[in-house]
Amino acid sequence: MGKSQDLYKEAKKIIPGGTQLLSKRPEMFLPEKWPAYYSKAKGCHVWDLDGNEYMDASYMGIGANVLGYCDDDVDAAVLKAVQCGSMCTLNAPEEVELAELLLKIHPWADMVRYAKTGGESLAIAVRIARAYTKKDVVLFCGYHGWCDWYLSANLAENSALDGHLIQGLDPAGVPRELINSAKPFMYNDLTAFKHLIKEYRGKIATVVLEPIRNIYPENEFLETIREVTEKEGIVLIIDEVSAGFRLNCGGSHLVLGITPDIAVFAKALGNGYPMAAIIGTKEVMDSAQSTFISSTYWTERIGLCAAIATINKYQKEHVEQHMDKIGKMVQKGWSDLAAKNGLHIHVTSIYPLSHFEFEYPNALVMKTLFTQEMLKKGYLATNAFYTSFAHTEKDVLGYLDTVDTVFAYLADAARKNNAESLLEGPVCQTGFQRLS
Ligand SMILES: Cc1ncc(COP(=O)(O)O)c(C=O)c1O
Repeated sequence: MGKSQDLYKEAKKIIPGGTQLLSKRPEMFLPEKWPAYYSKAKGCHVWDLDGNEYMDASYMGIGANVLGYCDDDVDAAVLKAVQCGSMCTLNAPEEVELAELLLKIHPWADMVRYAKTGGESLAIAVRIARAYTKKDVVLFCGYHGWCDWYLSANLAENSALDGHLIQGLDPAGVPRELINSAKPFMYNDLTAFKHLIKEYRGKIATVVLEPIRNIYPENEFLETIREVTEKEGIVLIIDEVSAGFRLNCGGSHLVLGITPDIAVFAKALGNGYPMAAIIGTKEVMDSAQSTFISSTYWTERIGLCAAIATINKYQKEHVEQHMDKIGKMVQKGWSDLAAKNGLHIHVTSIYPLSHFEFEYPNALVMKTLFTQEMLKKGYLATNAFYTSFAHTEKDVLGYLDTVDTVFAYLADAARKNNAESLLEGPVCQTGFQRLS
């Protein structure tokens, strides 16, 4: 662990926040002990800077690597793109090939724009919706990235975004003039949604939401939102950045039976290579021409080739079936082993984005202790397990064997009320906070 943690200490002096992604901060897992950096990653295996090998039983590239790390087929397509020149004054023809592929998968959509990350793609989608409707207000549910339109929700009330994946997001630097331009409602809360529709009627450009994540839609939540937005002339943006390519090849809205005006993809689309797509109906997407949305590296070739290769492999191998099977094994394993060892946990989420909560007043201590003990046994583990095509049944059986031992240890600590004393470093952080 020596080299990684030493490097991270240096990083914090010269990189504000230590890393570019909150979810990759070692403090979110196991402060002072987490192997912050990797030298190599292949399949579902990761090697740190000291040569230690782990199985990734956590976030698999924070949700990017649905096929696993360093996938041979995707890498072959990327290497070809590199050898043919990844950047040029002219455009890459793969822009059209990928657009045709995405439109074939999503027959309701007619046009496609590209970017590289989820947050910027959501900002693009919101800009298009505002340009199309000539209205400003955004109603949303869930987490949608770092951009001003989203963080502005915390200007009116600094905890407005709490409960939408990341707590405590500080809108410092976001113009105060954006106050009340983005209003949140909780998933499955149709009363709150309808209340906002009434309050901001005539001013709403778009409703932005994740189709699914930790809980399933209830009481026709998605259908009602579609019905109301259609009736009110509001653009419906479905954020597939995390949900896409988990339940099926493409948007999970296809499985859930909801047709948006725009859908946004990133993360899994490029299996670890930067790639994002904003797809939508011709009527709405045409407005991307009336507002300036343009950036040099949105045109580079690697992401496009990676996305085409990812989709082709995903379709050929029926990756969603594998991820579902692995996720089911993980969730059943967690539940059975918790019951066997007398540990109280609550298992949630769709199978490919499996998740559990410790049901204890000191849940964060328990989570940290779980990560600490799993790490000692060779697993990058937390209270979530994002499945991939690279996780085999044998991998999961080995993982669950270790979880059994660690759950027994945790249950004993809970009974003796001494979990905190067993920690070899500080308790993990949750949500957004300044690093010291
Ligand atoms: C649903 C959703 N939208 C948007 C984002 C932001 O994507 P990115 O981190 O690529 O900017 C995320 C990232 O976790 C996400 O889960």
